[in-house]
Order: sequence, then C-alpha cells, then structure tokens
Amino acid sequence: MSQALIEKILDLKRKRRAVILAHTYQPGEVQDIADFVGDSLQLSRQAAATAAEVIVFCGVWFMAETASILSPSKTVLLPDKHAGCPMADMITAEQLAKKKRQHPDTLVVSYVNSPAAVKALSDYCCTSGNAVELVESLPKGRPILFVPDRYLGQFVIDKTGRDMVLWPGYCPTHMRIDPHQIELLKAEYPDAEVMCHPECAEPVKALSHQILSTGAMLKRIPQSPARRFIVCTEEGILHTMHKQFPDREFMTISQRPLCPNMKKITLEKVAWSLEDMQFVVTVPEDIRIPARRALDRMLEVMPKGG
Ligand code: 13P
Ligand code: SF4
Repeated sequence: MSQALIEKILDLKRKRRAVILAHTYQPGEVQDIADFVGDSLQLSRQAAATAAEVIVFCGVWFMAETASILSPSKTVLLPDKHAGCPMADMITAEQLAKKKRQHPDTLVVSYVNSPAAVKALSDYCCTSGNAVELVESLPKGRPILFVPDRYLGQFVIDKTGRDMVLWPGYCPTHMRIDPHQIELLKAEYPDAEVMCHPECAEPVKALSHQILSTGAMLKRIPQSPARRFIVCTEEGILHTMHKQFPDREFMTISQRPLCPNMKKITLEKVAWSLEDMQFVVTVPEDIRIPARRALDRMLEVMPKGG
C-alpha cells in the first residue's frame, strides 16, 4: 500500500472539507483511512450528523443514497458508481406500488438495502441493527409487508412473533455461506462462538449462537466469554474485528463470503473521487422527502444497547 496515496487522500480530504465513511465490509486499507467505520445504521447516523461539506461513502449505492437523503445540502460521493447491491435491486418502486394497491391497509417496512424510490413508498425503514425494535414498535393488528430481504424478515418474525408478509429478496453473498463448513469449524473449535448476520439462511442461523447485525457483532465480542469466533458474514468485518480486538481469534468459512460490490471501492478510487468530485449521488426531491420520512422514523428507534 502506497503511503503517498494515503497522504494524497488525507490532503484532498482536508481541502474538500470531506469526511470518509466506510462500511465494515470494505477492504481493510479503505477502512484504515476512513474517519468512521460502522454498520448501515451507524453510518446513517454519522451522515445525518456530520458537519463536513462532502461525504465520501465507501460502501454501496443504497448507502450513499441514504446519506444524500439525510444530508441533501452535502455532496455525497460514491467512489465507484457500479457498486450496487443485488438485494436492493430485487425490488422496484413499480412492484411495490402494485402490491400496495392490492393491500391498501398494509404498513410497509423497507430494509435500508433498497432503492430510494422504494423507501419513498414505505412507512418505515430499518437496518439489520434495529429491525426487531422497529417492528415491535408498530401498532398491533395492522398487516405488515417487509421488503426486500426475506431472511431478515423471517428473523424479525421469529423475534417479535408478528405476522408479516415477506418479499422474496435475498443477499447472494450471505447465501454462499455453507452450513456444512460451519459444522466442520465447530467440530474443530468447540469453544468458538458462532455469530451470523440475519441475512443468512435458516440452516446457518440454526448453527449460530448469536444472530447479530455487523455493529452488534462488534459490541458482542468484548461481552462474550469466548476467545474464538466463527464469523458468518461478509469477510471485510474480520479486518475490523482483528483491529479492535487483537487478543481474540476470528475465522470464517474457507470459501470466504465476499461481496464483490463492496470490494469495488479501492484507495485509488477514493483519491480519484475526491480529486474529481465523482460520482455525486443525489435523490430527486419528490422521492427524497417521503424517503426521508421513512428514514426519520427509523432513526427515532434505538436498537437495544445502541
Ligand atoms: P449491516 O446492516 O449489518 O450494516 O449490513 C448491511 C449489509 O449490506 C449486509 O449485507
Ligand atoms: Fe448487498 Fe449482500 Fe453486498 Fe450487503 S453483502 S451490500 S446485502 S450484496
């Protein structure tokens, strides 16, 4: 890694009065130059609160869009415009509008991993860090449609006992986590605590001791009696974990779960992004205002211990 490149980024950052936000799935060297590394919920809060004029979002498209919805007066940059999220693309505003016409009484909760136009048609947004608390806070007796992640949705049903209709979306990266490989690791390291993200499929969840958002995983580690952890989510978080807890051991399955879109962001692209002020992510006002309402309702709900 080039020290000159890092210095260039820091210099441009000062010049542009920018803040660099990075998701925990980002490549290690990108996490290392960020002002703040966190999960979707923490990054949304940072984006809403920052005094910086420019936000360089090292993550995927829907995260940069969320930052722009919350901070419309700031310039939000995504260093690679092709860094999308296949799960977010599994629902469109047209499809959701059709479903809403068929079920006009339904409350719509959308995972932040969704396009801005879908958020605009939603009553509430949530992240994996506050989905349970958010659904628990909804009036009882109203039908709920949860989009687009069926696995996070099922986790919320299991935790809250609330009946929800689930959209059939999923994360291809988390689908690649093979339960058999977890069984092998558990047999080799019986003392290890298994943590998985709620986007994982049910057989992975059934083998896990803890089902947590990425932010909650980082909070759990110092509280756990375990010294070893089998981590079932995107592998970028192992960098964050090693850095924050150097005395613990972290492992993931051998076919490392890697999100190709998260890995599109590189140090070179961050430097170029600040230099050329590209790619600016904006949301039209007629979508931004209703999407903001759904996000504001989410930000009012604190995750337990959050
Ligand atoms: P978090 O909500 O835990 O940040 O996860 C976001 C994401 O994209 C998971 O795949
Ligand atoms: Fe989307 Fe999955 Fe990548 Fe998260 S890990 S950004 S849900 S594809």
